Amino acid sequence: MDLKVIGDQRGSLIALEPGLNIPFAIKRVYYIYGTLPDVGRGYHAHRRLEQMAICVSGSCKMIIDDGITRREMRLDSANKALVIRNMIWREMHEFSSDCVLLVLASDYYDESDYIRDYDKFIKEVNDGKK
Ligand code: TYD
Repeated sequence: MDLKVIGDQRGSLIALEPGLNIPFAIKRVYYIYGTLPDVGRGYHAHRRLEQMAICVSGSCKMIIDDGITRREMRLDSANKALVIRNMIWREMHEFSSDCVLLVLASDYYDESDYIRDYDKFIKEVNDGKK
């Protein structure tokens, strides 16, 4: 999703507003930064949680996988947002040293909502189709 940049001669500003440019109510915000070179993060899906990820500084590569199709994209601009619905496997790689990845989430942290095993994720995707 391309976020609208409100810019003037002083610089840029982006507003995030649930129900307008965020498709869920926000219950949690976190950010990932200082990620070491060659580190991969993520490697999980969420059963219910929805998230929106924005690289507010630097860049990283995002892999998203719905159990059928795997796509990768580079988040490299503060005005690009990736909405990650529930039951999507995600991995983050190639963090730049200045990367700050801001994540807005639809619910509080809950480890029981995570699927951290890829084979289990595929099984739950297929079970959901029955
Ligand atoms: P995790 O979601 O596994 O990180 P990543 O997907 O970036 O690899 O979370 C890393 C650790 O931080 C894990 O022990 C859970 C904890 N954590 C919280 O306590 N609260 C949170 O909001 C998040 C996102 C993680």
